[in-house]
Amino acid sequence: MLCLGIETSCDETSAAVVEDGRKIRSNIIASQVDIHRKYGGVVPELASRRHVEQISQVVDLAFEEAGVSLQNIDLIGVTYAPGLVGALLVGLSFAKAVAFSCGIPFVGVHHLQGHIHAISLEQEVPYPFLSLVVSGGHTELIHVRQFGDYTILGKTRDDAVGEAFDKVAKIMGLGYPGGPVLDVLAEEGDPHFAEFPRSMLSAGSLDFSFSGLKTAVLNFLLKNGWGPGGEGTAGLREHLADIAASFQEAAVQVLVDKAMMALETYGFERMVLSGGVASNRRLRKRLKEESDKRGIGFFAPSPILCTDNGAMIAAVATSAFRMGRQDRLDLNAAACLPLGHPPDKDDAMG
Ligand code: KG4
Ligand code: ZN
Repeated sequence: MLCLGIETSCDETSAAVVEDGRKIRSNIIASQVDIHRKYGGVVPELASRRHVEQISQVVDLAFEEAGVSLQNIDLIGVTYAPGLVGALLVGLSFAKAVAFSCGIPFVGVHHLQGHIHAISLEQEVPYPFLSLVVSGGHTELIHVRQFGDYTILGKTRDDAVGEAFDKVAKIMGLGYPGGPVLDVLAEEGDPHFAEFPRSMLSAGSLDFSFSGLKTAVLNFLLKNGWGPGGEGTAGLREHLADIAASFQEAAVQVLVDKAMMALETYGFERMVLSGGVASNRRLRKRLKEESDKRGIGFFAPSPILCTDNGAMIAAVATSAFRMGRQDRLDLNAAACLPLGHPPDKDDAMG
């Protein structure tokens, strides 16, 4: 079975062809970073317009690289929630138009479900497992009992961890997106140069909070003479890597400590890390070390499957279709939709 997967929930226009839900025949990701960089973050209206401009070409490229044509496609999977509603609507409308005109079944996929199961394109992880999804929009610990059966154990109460990386990088004048830059810079720095707060919230809570950490970095910089435009004193400039490492260490420690708490509380034997921030090398290393110590199987997809991509959407759509799911053409996009919530026809306004 060949599935075309389409993902346009944020600032990546992506299309992929996946065979039998496992084999990636192509996975094209057109990033929009160049147009959003000068604003220091994603501008929703610009994102939608760029998706409109790119979607046809990206899908054509996905077919070309896979060596297939539309006639060979058996199923279309598309992200329909959550995300920027204008951006989601581009992919969803495109998918519905192709499905309708060619008589191909289609399945709407929850973006978070895509991240959770991205690993299935590379490795088979037996259920149940603990999923930690960390991205620009999500920080969630999820009990995955089996495909389609999820309980959220903890989530962020304010900023997502990727958002914290992006905002801290912006304050430091490092550009957008900040995660990859901080990851590289932190490698050269002293993680104990500044002791930033590790917000654990109430005892036993598996929720997260990253806005205090972001503010602590801002206050530290301002206290040490950092200008509002990112221009620093010579002294601080010398310590940019140390500040990056100190921030990253605080964020990573909270994620690792909470993940370990969840593993122990619920007795999981395996955990899967995913989402854009799952590319962070320090986070991968620390989670692997702590999982190994406890005899827990640790899994994380390759970085290309951590970021937003059409292949993970195709993988989920294929499994869902095999379990009998097929959506109607009145499926609407939703800016916010809890995982496991049935699609709502009138969700488009969020
Ligand atoms: O999953 P994703 O591509 O899009 C969303 O669904 O949000 O995640 C993007 C996020 C951005 O915040 C970006 O800064 C962060 O992932 N990110 C990283 C790294 N690579 C990407 N954060 C930390 N370290 C990285 N190496
Ligand atoms: Zn994502």
